[in-house]
Amino acid sequence: MNIIPKPSKCTKKEGSFSITENTIIQTSTMSLEMQKLLLPFVDKIYKLSHIKIPIKEYSEICTNVINIDFIQTGLGKEGYKLEISSSNITIKAEALNGVFYCIQTIFQLLPIEIFGEKFINKPLVLQCCEIIDNPCFIWRGMHLDVSRHFFNVKFIKKYIDYLAMHKMNIFHWHLTDDNGWRIEIKKYPKLTEIGAWRASRDGIGWRDCKPQQPGEKTIYGGYYTQQEIKKIVQYANDRFITIIPEIEMPGHTLEVLAAYPELGCTGGPYTVATGTYWPNKDIFCAGNEEVFVFLKNVLNEVLELFPGKYIHIGGDEVNKEEWKKCSKCLTRMQKENLQNVEELQSWFIKRIGKYLHSKNRKLIGWDEILEGGLAPNAAVMSWQGEKGGIQAAKIGHDVVMSPGTHCYFDHYQDDPETEPKAIGGYTTLKKVYSYEPIPKELTKRQAKHILGAQANVWTEWMETPEHIEYMIFPRITALAEVLWSTIDNKNWEDFKERLQKFLNVYRIIGINYHKSVFEEQ
Ligand code: ACM
Ligand code: ZN
Repeated sequence: MNIIPKPSKCTKKEGSFSITENTIIQTSTMSLEMQKLLLPFVDKIYKLSHIKIPIKEYSEICTNVINIDFIQTGLGKEGYKLEISSSNITIKAEALNGVFYCIQTIFQLLPIEIFGEKFINKPLVLQCCEIIDNPCFIWRGMHLDVSRHFFNVKFIKKYIDYLAMHKMNIFHWHLTDDNGWRIEIKKYPKLTEIGAWRASRDGIGWRDCKPQQPGEKTIYGGYYTQQEIKKIVQYANDRFITIIPEIEMPGHTLEVLAAYPELGCTGGPYTVATGTYWPNKDIFCAGNEEVFVFLKNVLNEVLELFPGKYIHIGGDEVNKEEWKKCSKCLTRMQKENLQNVEELQSWFIKRIGKYLHSKNRKLIGWDEILEGGLAPNAAVMSWQGEKGGIQAAKIGHDVVMSPGTHCYFDHYQDDPETEPKAIGGYTTLKKVYSYEPIPKELTKRQAKHILGAQANVWTEWMETPEHIEYMIFPRITALAEVLWSTIDNKNWEDFKERLQKFLNVYRIIGINYHKSVFEEQ
């Protein structure tokens, strides 16, 4: 049974089930949501085999039926039981999430051509088996940076499809950074009129880009309209994926300052970054009340668009030199009795955290938000190794692991000599597969705060969708198994074998994947 991520329990049985002209789906709950969930499955079967499977409310026990039972399985909302006998398929789940994941498993049990677009000229036969399955972690995420390079709606949907087929459930959308603001905000049109566009430095290495020159046109960029974002959120929701939007603050904000220079300590002028300049010192002024009015207004529109609990506020890599020199920032520190600029950043984040909390949302930020004191209720995304995550879990805060050592998919996955230029690092498929999100130093109780993990895809060196695919495949497949499957079920040799077959799925879909070393053997 070649299923990725590996199910908790899977027992092969004698015989097989065939989907034929007489097969029907019977469900104990005929809601609109259920029909919406089943339609892509039914459509896919119809498109590829010309067999139309009707969906009916449960009426009687009969054969050649795919039964869907909503019952307590004890497996949680994402879990499912799947029984395939020669006469019937039975899906049992507590919620639609589980049914959805069960269908993803069924796709993998069907002839592999089901992942393609062409007519399947063979019977739709499934091996008889019994599967009991549920995920280990509730946060199974992939991040994507659309600021360094912009990627259109069509690709974002494809990216969401890739997550869904791997039973991942979080898409962390890095929408704002120094190189471009990517989300329409009605109240601040200049964010997209100015902030979404930068001077082009085509063919020049990311670190060698000189800033925009006087009189130079800003021609590279783009953004998503609110209408587009609503559709993408719905698209993700239909695939049981929550989108976590990231609005960076107080640093990585040069593109905002280019549009609204009055929000920076010096007042500018600023231009949207064409590459990465270091140190990154043009940040929001923490002493200026206008900044907080701006951020609340921006967040209000963000909250309207993204219904998920978590809002990511960035918080990473803030160079605070300007704060030390700015009279407004110094006055703020005095008034709030803050001893240093780390405490000023902490005060800034806490203020935003309080606002999000008042809107019944939760703040999540990169592990630098621990510096100067963590905001109440804030969750931490641990990227500088695991230490930030460990520290946060120990004091009772939720954590998402994303250490550079194992989870940065912008890193090289093979010998840099033979690879396209990447940001650095060396994170092989095997290394990703070896990752265990729960650090050994945590007690059982503290470990409950580790919600899961995610891979980060920073796009400084990735300009095209094909290049992103190359960097995430097949590492995403390893991460999916790290997050879904139990430790007892993880086995590198077994995974490699299943992956070799799964690569055919990539080929049929047309994914530009990294041809891993073992494939050529
Ligand atoms: C990060 O990689 N700067 C979070
Ligand atoms: Zn200031």
